[in-house]
Amino acid sequence: MSNGTTTGRRPVGVRIAGTGSALPKRTLTNADLEKMMATSDEWIVQRTGIRERRILNRDQGESTSQLAAESLKAALAQARLAPADLDLIIVATMTAEMSCPGSASLVANMIGAGNCGAFDLNAACSGFVYGLNVAHDLIKGGAYRNIGLIGADALSTLMQYNDAGRSTSIIFGDAAAATVINATDDTSKGILAQAMHSDGKGWKEIYVPRCSQDFPPGVEPDPSKFDHVQMNGASVFKFAVSTFPELIQQTLDKAKIAATDVDMYVCHQSNQRILHAARDRFGLAEDKLYVNIDRFGNTVAASVPLCLDELRRSGRIRDGYKVMFVAFGGGLTWGSSLWQL
Ligand code: UT7
Repeated sequence: MSNGTTTGRRPVGVRIAGTGSALPKRTLTNADLEKMMATSDEWIVQRTGIRERRILNRDQGESTSQLAAESLKAALAQARLAPADLDLIIVATMTAEMSCPGSASLVANMIGAGNCGAFDLNAACSGFVYGLNVAHDLIKGGAYRNIGLIGADALSTLMQYNDAGRSTSIIFGDAAAATVINATDDTSKGILAQAMHSDGKGWKEIYVPRCSQDFPPGVEPDPSKFDHVQMNGASVFKFAVSTFPELIQQTLDKAKIAATDVDMYVCHQSNQRILHAARDRFGLAEDKLYVNIDRFGNTVAASVPLCLDELRRSGRIRDGYKVMFVAFGGGLTWGSSLWQL
């Protein structure tokens, strides 16, 4: 099939054929942050589990789209496909360099993907998991065969690395990670259950104001906060601690399987305490719910695919496994995608 067109043929199964990731060169440790703001390694590790994160440098040519393109190249190589084989590129991101063009168009151009479809999907930290459901169902419906789905974010571009920004800048890191998802004749492969939810009333828990009109009622507009993430950490924490287990249970129920039937939980890396709470709630063995937040922080839409890429490359996720992807974030949004790989 030619690049960007549709066949109308109904594929029978959907598989994750390749994964890849790309990280900025610069590492920002907790010790570095101690020199920039009133914080401590102890506070950050205790409250979040984070020890270091990567931060991009646009002067060195790094950007959300550049990292996204690198990660997709790696995923294509693993899938043994060429850029021209892609029918569609989806970039889950809330930090595209420009509002137009979308990051996906830049990625298509950087990798030489020809005239394939390209669009960005913004569901904040839930973006990649939403994207898994979208890409899967587009392939399952028969219209597309090969989709490049990337989670890429550079929240460092929306941070203040000083006392005013200490409650957010310690958390977030930059990264991109990609999957190549494609049609297969193996009908056993694909999504067993999925969910996508939102609660727009909770938008003011995490937002990035651009002008005075963007502030929620009751909050004094403050130009020094323009283009910086405003987050009610405690409230998001409470939301996440209850939503994560509910979402996992709901997805298990839909698929009619038990928590222990899932081989690996790949969850958004928002806070180690939230991840451990979910693991304890389902009585999961430590190695069944992956944690890499200590090395990368919260990389927003990149966090779930970054875990997936590490797990696949280290052989801890294999063909035939049942894997549950779960995320929550700004919007508020939350979603899950349970796969039979
Ligand atoms: O990806 C999805 C989006 N986000 C999340 O999932 C975030 C969820 N929330 C969290 O992870 C936690 O709420 C945080 C890690 C953000 C904060 O932890 P917390 O235990 O909820 O702390 P807090 O915001 O209640 O602040 C406790 C204290 C405050 O001081 P006082 O008022 O008790 O004197 C803060 O000013 O800690 C202070 N504080 C800090 N101290 C040292 C805030 N940031 C820092 C810091 N270093 N970086």
